[in-house]
Amino acid sequence: MLSLLSSLVLLATVGTAVEAYCTPTCLADEICNNSSVCAANTTYYQSLGLNVNNVSAAVTCKGANMTISVGKNLLETLRYNPSASTLSQSNCTGAVLDILQGQRVYSLTVQTKDGVCGNTITKNSTHVTFANSILIPGQNSNGIIAAGNISIQFFCAYNITMQTSLYIAYKPVMTTQTLNSGNSGGDGTTTLAAYTSPTYTVPLEQSQQQELPVGSSLYFGMTTQFPDPAFVLRIDQCYATPTSDGSGSIRVQLIQGGCPTGNGPNIQVVENGVSKEVRFSVSSFSFQGYGSVYIFCDARLCNAASGSCSKCASAREVSQDTTQFSLGPFTVQDIDYSAGSQMGLSGSLLVGSLMCLLTHYISDIM
Ligand SMILES: *[C@@H]1O[C@H](CO)[C@@H](O)[C@H](O)[C@H]1NC(C)=O
Ligand SMILES: *[C@@H]1O[C@H](CO)[C@@H](O)[C@H](O)[C@H]1NC(C)=O
Ligand SMILES: *[C@@H]1O[C@H](CO)[C@@H](O)[C@H](O)[C@H]1NC(C)=O
Ligand SMILES: *[C@@H]1O[C@H](CO)[C@@H](O)[C@H](O)[C@H]1NC(C)=O
Ligand SMILES: *[C@@H]1O[C@H](CO)[C@@H](O)[C@H](O)[C@H]1NC(C)=O
Ligand SMILES: *[C@@H]1O[C@H](CO)[C@@H](O)[C@H](O)[C@H]1NC(C)=O
Ligand SMILES: *[C@@H]1O[C@H](CO)[C@@H](O)[C@H](O)[C@H]1NC(C)=O
Ligand SMILES: *[C@@H]1O[C@H](CO)[C@@H](O)[C@H](O)[C@H]1NC(C)=O
Ligand SMILES: *[C@@H]1O[C@H](CO)[C@@H](O)[C@H](O)[C@H]1NC(C)=O
Repeated sequence: MLSLLSSLVLLATVGTAVEAYCTPTCLADEICNNSSVCAANTTYYQSLGLNVNNVSAAVTCKGANMTISVGKNLLETLRYNPSASTLSQSNCTGAVLDILQGQRVYSLTVQTKDGVCGNTITKNSTHVTFANSILIPGQNSNGIIAAGNISIQFFCAYNITMQTSLYIAYKPVMTTQTLNSGNSGGDGTTTLAAYTSPTYTVPLEQSQQQELPVGSSLYFGMTTQFPDPAFVLRIDQCYATPTSDGSGSIRVQLIQGGCPTGNGPNIQVVENGVSKEVRFSVSSFSFQGYGSVYIFCDARLCNAASGSCSKCASAREVSQDTTQFSLGPFTVQDIDYSAGSQMGLSGSLLVGSLMCLLTHYISDIM
């Protein structure tokens, strides 16, 4: 058996009749060439009489990325070099070989951010559109350029939502973590961000977070990409502290058991545990008098079939499987003339919330 195998190998190396072997096998429009590489079957493409106008390009708009893919085999037959493709900014290179809808393609991926790799952005009241172009160079053999470069424009249009508004922002105040459901798989990328408007589509910029206008509200939105429709996003608790690590003696509970702790208009939970998004708002009064404030939120994916994802839980029911998100620091603008009274007001509101929580907690125990 062993000797048979070795003679076969010998045959393969010496014999001229043995065909090249490619793994995985080549596509229908390819041949396995003598370097054991799948290459375009140029005979096939030439028989079709195709030209540059027949080059296929596909755009995939996914999350915060857009991907442009161009068919490799026709381009190579037409003497282009798609592996050296660039975006409109010529240092954005690195085309990746891939198979898309049964075709061998080269793909370039770019973040949906204004200016990145030459992206341009246009916006109307409902959509934001990112545009760029891919430049496919002609093959350059012996200094002779066989074909001119091809440039193909492409774009991705997104509804302006809590999620997509973050792509438009310059430096939004946001943080990203991955949530798991335990058994069901998928991309659990989850983002918590701060917004300045109750539409949750105007992100707070990092340049603004330390000078929040007195009396303004902050809107916090969390959204997950987790695809399984059986799961919704739920925040169990949020609190604010003046320290970035969440420690320290001052700790103001904003949300407990999935519901607001305060009675007043300070904290409003608009949506929690009903969809892939959570929305709540906090009056910046809550932060005054504490210098800088950090927000901490514990969130998880909740199986909607449990029926409890949108309900308030008692303080004793603490979920184990939460992931902590934090944002900050937030600072409310200091206005000297009213400092005394404003601080007094916020102080008492905070004590009010704490007292309320404490009462709640005690009644739960009893
Ligand atoms: C591979 O090389 C052999 C001999 O050099 C040649 O006969 C054959 O046609 C080549 N095959 C391909 C697919 O280029
Ligand atoms: C096989 O195809 C690859 C990719 O097109 C090419 O780089 C290589 O030179 C080819 N080898 C032969 C022997 O034709
Ligand atoms: C390449 O295409 C030609 C024309 O369609 C076909 O006759 C030939 O069998 C193909 N070669 C391979 C290796 O598939
Ligand atoms: C290739 O492009 C030409 C236009 O240049 C068009 O007339 C023809 O239908 C295209 N062929 C295919 C197969 O798409
Ligand atoms: C976007 O692209 C980056 C790398 O360029 C990658 O890490 C990330 O997972 C991609 N996101 C999506 C949603 O495909
Ligand atoms: C490309 O060049 C620009 C300007 O020179 C630079 O800002 C950018 O970071 C570069 N991008 C990459 C992907 O190297
Ligand atoms: C906004 O732009 C999108 C994408 O280009 C377009 O489909 C939509 O009709 C435009 N809406 C308005 C109100 O102009
Ligand atoms: C084609 O693209 C290459 C870079 O890939 C560039 O150096 C060359 O100047 C371009 N040629 C034309 C005619 O635009
Ligand atoms: C975009 O908005 C339109 C109209 O509001 C809606 O019909 C569509 O489902 C939205 N698309 C996405 C991906 O949210």
